[in-house]
Amino acid sequence: MTEINDALKIKEGSEYKYYINGEWKKSSSGNVIEIKNPYNNEVVGSVQACTIQEVDQMIHVANDNYECWEQISIKERANVLRKTANIMLEWADTLGYLLMREIGKPLNSAISEIKRTAEIFNATADSASQMIGETMRGDILDESARDKISMTYRVPLGVVLCIGPFNYPFNLTGSKIAPALLAGNSVVMKPSTQGSITALHFGVILEKAGVPNGVFNAITGYGSEIGDHLSSHPLIDMISFTGSSETGKHIAKSAGMKPLLLELGGKDAAIVLDDASLELTVNAIVKGAFSYSGQRCTAVKRVLPMPQIANHLIERVTEQVLQLSVGDPAKNKSIGPLISSKQCDYVQELIDDALEKGAKIICGNKRKGNLMWPTILDNVSLEMRVAWEEPFGPVLPFIRVKSVQEAIDISNKSEYGLQGMIFTENIDLAFNIAQELQVGTVQINGQSSRGPDHFPFLGTKSSGLGTQGVKYAIEAMSRPKVVVMNLSEKGKLVRECEVR
Ligand code: NAP
Ligand code: G3H
Repeated sequence: MTEINDALKIKEGSEYKYYINGEWKKSSSGNVIEIKNPYNNEVVGSVQACTIQEVDQMIHVANDNYECWEQISIKERANVLRKTANIMLEWADTLGYLLMREIGKPLNSAISEIKRTAEIFNATADSASQMIGETMRGDILDESARDKISMTYRVPLGVVLCIGPFNYPFNLTGSKIAPALLAGNSVVMKPSTQGSITALHFGVILEKAGVPNGVFNAITGYGSEIGDHLSSHPLIDMISFTGSSETGKHIAKSAGMKPLLLELGGKDAAIVLDDASLELTVNAIVKGAFSYSGQRCTAVKRVLPMPQIANHLIERVTEQVLQLSVGDPAKNKSIGPLISSKQCDYVQELIDDALEKGAKIICGNKRKGNLMWPTILDNVSLEMRVAWEEPFGPVLPFIRVKSVQEAIDISNKSEYGLQGMIFTENIDLAFNIAQELQVGTVQINGQSSRGPDHFPFLGTKSSGLGTQGVKYAIEAMSRPKVVVMNLSEKGKLVRECEVR
């Protein structure tokens, strides 16, 4: 594996430091947080439990340095992003291995997460033209305003706070950092505590790629302890957050009038019509529900099959699920550990509640440590918690429906509105159902998913606020600046023209 240059700066023994103004430091709190591998409980390392004062210092540093970054040309900022992408690709195996140990993601997926982040950095650099504006003359709306010309261009917002979740600690902080930097902002990154060791490497990579000191900074510590101070700080100009709906709503309250981009939870439903292609549907559902053990906002979290296809579908899905291997993420087993034993307890609670209320267990319902076997529940009814709550684990409820309208109603009754799926050969009908679903994105004959990363990605209701995706994020992290030229009579050319 490639040696990560400068690794010695970032840590002492297994203790990682935080990154401020180009320096790696230990917290004055003297406290660290141990990060343990969720599969085998081995200590991966520890990170600093930073103090409120250190949060404050960091935000001031970011604020002091954003103007120097803004003055660098957009072209040069894009070049720095491309260099960043190259370093990530060079270090992908090493970082992926670290990520696998930190969050229990299968090794190949962990390496893909690093490579996908490099792709986002390159795509963001390629989208530098999003930073353009427009010119207008006043007489479009007001004939007496012919001598007014407005020129609009985009400027950065200032200091962008990037907070990411545990399930994509590198990618879902990277997808915020890249547009923030391209648009000319400085960044304070607060990664998820579980996953923060890998995310801290942004400090090494961005510095090596040429980001000036103080423009990118990374703080660690529990969100419950430093989060409010970060999000409510008056020198934070924008917050881009991915995580649970509960935390997102909390941040929205403490942030006040700051612009927000929130990507939150989901309860994506797959509506399967009687004429759906069975093979395609089964593959999409199994992959969609169980990759990274269901710990994805876009996981397929409930299936609503119509009467004639339900039995075949459940049978075929079960056959495939029984083939999924369970175990060590280092060995690329399909199902790995959940992030914590608390999360396993929660998933078990949802299964137990469903069984008590009459659901039928088709497979799974087995646990060893943080490993939970993929579980299929049939005959799930609307009184059961698993019909509505997001397990973030390998549990798939089947809610049998009798009509398309019933499926639409159950989909829309959710507090979430991230994505929806329709499986059918009848594309006209699919299109009409898509119009009815109250979600950010509807997938026709495919599993719910965020990418490709230049697509708009958004949620309605408790699933989010604002739109992610390369060009949308650049737009969200910059604002129009308008200069109006009021032309005077003095230099006016006199032309004689006859109006007929
Ligand atoms: P989480 O518990 O909400 O944590 C997300 C981030 O918020 C972490 O960095 C956490 O730090 C931080 N945090 C916690 N309390 C905070 C506070 N008061 N102020 C500021 N930050 C705070 O979510 P998670 O467990 O990491 O991720 C799982 C959830 O995220 C699921 O609901 C999933 O659906 C959602 N998700 C959504 C998307 C999407 O794009 N829609 C993508 C991925 C995940 P600590 O780690 O230190 O607690
Ligand atoms: O967990 C939420 C992510 O945004 C999902 O991304 O669909 O590419 O796995 P993904």
